[in-house]
Amino acid sequence: MRVLVTGGCGFIGSHFVKRLVAAGEQVVVLDKLTYSGNLANLDGVEHEFVQGDIADPVAVRGAGEGCDAVVNFAAETHVDRSILEAGDFVRTDVLGTHVLLEWVRAAGARLVHVSTDEVYGDVPEGSWSKEDDPLLPSSPYAASKAGGDLLVLAYVRTHGIDACITRGSNTYGSNQYPEKLIPLMVTNALEGEPLPVYGDGRQRRDWLHAEDHCAGIELVLREGAGGGVFNIGAGAERENLDVVMRIVELTGAEPDLVRHVADRPGHDRRYSLDSSRLHELGWKPERDFETGLAETVAWYQDNRAWWEPIKSGAYREYYARQYAERLSS
Ligand code: DAU
Repeated sequence: MRVLVTGGCGFIGSHFVKRLVAAGEQVVVLDKLTYSGNLANLDGVEHEFVQGDIADPVAVRGAGEGCDAVVNFAAETHVDRSILEAGDFVRTDVLGTHVLLEWVRAAGARLVHVSTDEVYGDVPEGSWSKEDDPLLPSSPYAASKAGGDLLVLAYVRTHGIDACITRGSNTYGSNQYPEKLIPLMVTNALEGEPLPVYGDGRQRRDWLHAEDHCAGIELVLREGAGGGVFNIGAGAERENLDVVMRIVELTGAEPDLVRHVADRPGHDRRYSLDSSRLHELGWKPERDFETGLAETVAWYQDNRAWWEPIKSGAYREYYARQYAERLSS
């Protein structure tokens, strides 16, 4: 296969590119290289690279030339940023998805659209979200992803395109931009900086290793029936505060770095996925969270040259906007 991977320089996208290349596929990466896209994530990996935006039809057509399939990782993904400013989320996650869909329709290519468990909204306790459940997004980020998902499903039904959607849970591993909970806490702990826990820290997330997430997406690419939606959850639910305290132990940081700060507006308490559809296709997560977290912490300890330059310039501006007031009160 020749596969177009959009957002292939980002966190999950770059893990996926490495996986496809190792499997012997030809990969073309289309990436806008926004703040979280990083060419260094693909160092030493054989691929073709095009810098461009999925919302630009000319860039998509050029990069997609001769491709049999596209896997769409290109997205604005950080909930807190979507609360500060949602315009880029609508542009990339909704309008960009539309541009990709038009290309898929014209080229007759297959699409795997990578989405999120956040489209189902809060699942405070008990039941698990199934793929046909209604979408009830809470944040502007989740709403933008839900909009993209609905467009994909509408194109399947109306235009008969060959497309699947994956909805993954919270993903962690190496090369994750240090704005998300785990890399932010690990790098702050390593620098002796405060660890800002939103609210009571008793919100729960299901932690999925990037390699397990990518294995699920690859299986859907190869075997998912067109029009199918597939949840990808690890079944490794943890309270945020427990994750943070484990990071404190693993890094040897001082526990009094932990600060409870003002909560995220509209904060979902919990997500929970029923992934039995993907299990039936033959997928199961292979990494347990304790081992995966320890390996991830070790990666950040050993790869300061990757993240220290990131935590300067525009990152500091974002960090101040998001945390300065929270940490001062
Ligand atoms: O569930 C899948 C989603 O997981 C992905 O679709 C999103 O792209 C990804 O950002 C992630 O969303 P979350 O909002 O769950 O991830 P985040 O790492 O931002 O936060 C995880 C939890 O930790 C959440 O309950 C908020 C909390 N948190 C996060 C940060 C950054 C804190 O308490 N303090 C923080 O500084």
